[in-house]
Amino acid sequence: MEIDNDALYHIKNAKCVTILTGAGVSAESGVATFRSYKDETKESLWSQYDPQKMASLEGFLENPNRVWQWYQWRRSELKTKEPNDAHKAIAKWQQSNSQSVTLITQNVDGLHQAGGSQNVTELHGNIWGNHCLQCRTEYKEGVDDIEEVIECPECGGQIRPSVVWFGEALPEHAWRDAESASYSCDLFLSVGTSSQVYPAAGLAALAKSQGATVIEINPEPTESSVVDYCVKGIASKFFLESL
Ligand code: OAD
Repeated sequence: MEIDNDALYHIKNAKCVTILTGAGVSAESGVATFRSYKDETKESLWSQYDPQKMASLEGFLENPNRVWQWYQWRRSELKTKEPNDAHKAIAKWQQSNSQSVTLITQNVDGLHQAGGSQNVTELHGNIWGNHCLQCRTEYKEGVDDIEEVIECPECGGQIRPSVVWFGEALPEHAWRDAESASYSCDLFLSVGTSSQVYPAAGLAALAKSQGATVIEINPEPTESSVVDYCVKGIASKFFLESL
């Protein structure tokens, strides 16, 4: 893997680093990405399923059981996955205390936490949570084997997974933290994301506008115009070779 010497210099010498991760970081754990897949034997989720049907409120209201069952299937898949070297390297970097390292993720799989990261800003929620559509009461436990949408014991509303769907606002506190970390960093790493979904994809530009260096790590570089250095390769290798 070729990492530009100037990029390495920024990685070693930045005081304040913000990392934004996407599905590509979990790809090496065997988790399907949404759009593209380096490994052509596997298919991305949105090439098999319609995001409007599976990941929007309209899709849920049209057929709640279809959406619920899809999330139950994704959860059962995720239960077999382990954090990979990229998750672990990021956690170790955060704990090293030599630099301030803030982690923001678009992933809902919880693998950063499983890899040892204690502070993770989750922009798109977490797939292991559920809440009532109506009264927002949260339900984390006890839904493992349930195949059909259940009613909220509090108000009779329908219970949905606590992930952000298309057309929904991001959790306010998570977005505030992400904006502030992007605004104040001197190095922004965009790792394993196609940078197509906003507002998350706009964080790199925000960091750049405040003078940060932006490095992208992706085996299929994106067309983002704010990237200063692009490292063409997989996330685990990048962290093993650069830290
Ligand atoms: P995508 O599936 O759009 O993009 C994954 C990116 O990871 C691609 O650019 C791949 O080239 C790259 N990639 C694949 N393997 C990699 C590896 N081993 N190391 C590094 N990069 C790798 O996923 P996201 O950008 O995360 O939102 O997608 C953003 C959002 O779109 C998701 O959070 C989800 C989706 O719809 C919602 O569901 C709201």
